Formats: sequence, C-alpha cells, structure tokens
Amino acid sequence: MSKVASIFDLECLARERLPGVVFDYIHGGSEQQLTVQRNLDDMRALALRQHSLRDVSHRDTRVTMAGDPARIPLALGPTGLAGLTWANGECEAARAAVDFGVPFCLSTCSINSIEDVAEAINQPFWFQLYLMKDHKVNASLMRRAHDASCSALVLTIDLHTQGKRWADEKHGLAVPPRLTPANIMQMVGHPRWLANMAGSKRHTFGNFEHEIKEAGSIGSLSKWIEEQFDPAFDVNTARRVRATWQRKLILKGVMNPDDARTAIDIGADAIIVSNHGGRQLDGAPSSISVLPEIVDAVGDRIEVLFDGGIRTGGDIVKAIGLGAHACLSGRAWLYGLAARGCKGVTCALTLLEQELQDCMLLTGLDNLQRIEPGVVTAQPPLGRR
Ligand SMILES: Cc1cc2nc3c(=O)[nH]c(=O)nc-3n(C[C@H](O)[C@H](O)[C@H](O)COP(=O)(O)O)c2cc1C
Repeated sequence: MSKVASIFDLECLARERLPGVVFDYIHGGSEQQLTVQRNLDDMRALALRQHSLRDVSHRDTRVTMAGDPARIPLALGPTGLAGLTWANGECEAARAAVDFGVPFCLSTCSINSIEDVAEAINQPFWFQLYLMKDHKVNASLMRRAHDASCSALVLTIDLHTQGKRWADEKHGLAVPPRLTPANIMQMVGHPRWLANMAGSKRHTFGNFEHEIKEAGSIGSLSKWIEEQFDPAFDVNTARRVRATWQRKLILKGVMNPDDARTAIDIGADAIIVSNHGGRQLDGAPSSISVLPEIVDAVGDRIEVLFDGGIRTGGDIVKAIGLGAHACLSGRAWLYGLAARGCKGVTCALTLLEQELQDCMLLTGLDNLQRIEPGVVTAQPPLGRR
C-alpha cells in the first residue's frame, strides 16, 4: 500500500480507485469551477507568520462546536452521495469521526439513511437539511433526525436551485450511476470499486426511500428531489424551521453580513460561512475572503464556523486566525473515504491533526482560540517599501 503523506495523496488514490463519473462528482464544482479554484487559491495565498521564541510544549486543540466536543476544530461536513464512493460510506465516515472525536454531519442526500447512521454509531450526530417544497417530507426528516438523537440541524440555505456541474451532466450522473456504455466501461475498469459497492446496504437516496411514492423507481426519485429545491425559501421558512427544531440550529451557506445578522435574529446557534465548496454559485468569492467581514458584522453574538478549501492543518489555523471558531471539511475526508473507507477518513483526520500541531509549533501558538492578530496575514509585498 503506498504511503500517504497528505490529503493530496488521498485525492490521487481516490482518482485511481473511482470511476470517472463518481470522482468528477466529488471533486468538481459548478460551471467553470471559478469558485472551487478561488477557495483553494485564496487559502494558499494567505501567509502564516512564524513566532519562534515561545514555549509551545503544551498545545490545546480541543473546542466545542455547536455544543459538541471536538478533538480538533474540524467537523466532517455534509456531502451527498458519499456512499457512492465506498459501500455504506456515510456509516463508515461517521464511525471514523466518532473514534477520532469530531462531529459528523449527515447530508439529506446521503445513501445511508439517518437511521442507518444512528444504528452504526449509537451516538449523537448532526443532520443537514435541504428544505423541500413538500413540507410533509421536511417535517418527517426533522422528526426522524430528532428521534435519532441528532444534536444539531444544519440548515443549508444556498440551494434555491442546484448548481450546474457540467461534468455530472455529461456523465449523466444519477443514483446509482446511469448505465450508459461510457459509464459501464468506466465501472468495469474499476473492479475494486465495483466489488466493494456490491456490499452496500443501499443504492439510492436512503433518507427518501420510505418518504415518497416516487421512491419506487430510482430515476423518478432523483427527478423528484431535483424538482423539490424551493426558490421561495426565505427568512420566514428558516424561522419556521427554528420554531420546529428545538436543539442546536446551524445555518450553512452564509456568504454576506446581512444573512449572518439574520441568522442571529431568527435565533440560530451558529452559521457556516460557506459557498458550498464552489458547487453552487460559480463566480462567488472564496469563503475565506468573506470570512473577516462576516466575523466583524456578528462579533461573538453567534458561533461562526467555516468551510471551503481546507486541505491542510495550516488551513484550519488560517480560518481560525481570521475569526472562525472552527471549520468543516468536505472533499478532504471524502477523498479519504473514497481511497480507503473508514481507515481513509481516519487517515485524513490524522494528517490534518499532525499538520495543525506542526503549524501551532512553528507559529508559536498554544491555544487556537487565542490567535493574536498578525499570525495570519496577506503575503507581504516583495521588495523594499
Ligand atoms: C461531493 C460533495 C457533496 C456535497 N453535498 C452537500 C450536501 O448534501 N449538503 C450540503 O449542505 N453541502 C454539501 N456539500 C458542500 C460541503 O458540505 C462543503 O460546504 C464543501 O465541500 C466545503 O468545501 P471543501 O470541499 O473544499 O472542504 C457537498 C460537497 C461535496 C464536495
């Protein structure tokens, strides 16, 4: 087995192991992928200032995220169809998260259902909700998340329509992947993936299987979900969710100070500054570039979480240095899952933790909640001023 030194190695292994239709789905973004690239570029463009004459033998990375303990300031964010990369992928990832000691968030559009994950880990987890036009389904999903002891509901607010991912359209991505001659060739060409998938408990959107009559046929279920994203979603809709869900509520997809202030008004417990990993509005700024103005707008009136472009432990320090309380990851853990299942997710978390520790040692930080201004900066201009 080849040595994995970074998340980028896991990405390479995922690319090798998965058929193109599945790899492109997890890796890509919407349209020209401008925002996917900005998330990565802007994160890399930030500089970390060394601070060397300090004793940093005791370092604390622990934090609570929406009330739940986390060994490092990172949760596994919601990613739809993770179970297409590894059999029972959401259960495997949730196990890795629990064993490591970070929160796991299940997507509405997962392959394993809420109940599958609850049974697999027997511990509270977070559930991400896409609000559907069908309010009965929304109410039922929230009830099921409540009964499964989910400690937080992550309400995604940036899905009035689904971003167009050109690669997925060309592949004819469906759940399970459509059997076009090209897709069949790709799947047959990836026998390890195919054999592993045969052991999957489910092969469609697990959370909807018993919710709607269209669930009988996989094609009609995918179509039903696509048509259910609601352009009328607004602050009143979010307020209704707040009134229904009594536990922690996190609004995900906040990209401007107005939405952040509204989240406070409606009584949300936390926000996630996120552009959906560049999978929704192509052309949106990177999430790291808008983080400081959102933090300035809300102060400490609400917990500010962050995602988008986290690939190293240093990236976590950068986000926290710019005011985030903690981060979520999407692709980093998905690459791990796609490469090696539960062990791959543990590997991703371990790498990020080691890099985080190294970054703290070299920047002179003993506690991430006390990063002084100036540790994370723009790259200083070259040459004498
Ligand atoms: C394959 C994939 C599927 C995703 N599915 C969901 C989803 O179902 N719900 C959601 O709120 N966000 C979803 N996201 C967005 C992530 O939660 C997160 O915002 C994003 O991946 C963060 O960027 P990163 O991948 O650079 O870490 C998805 C992202 C990816 C890569």
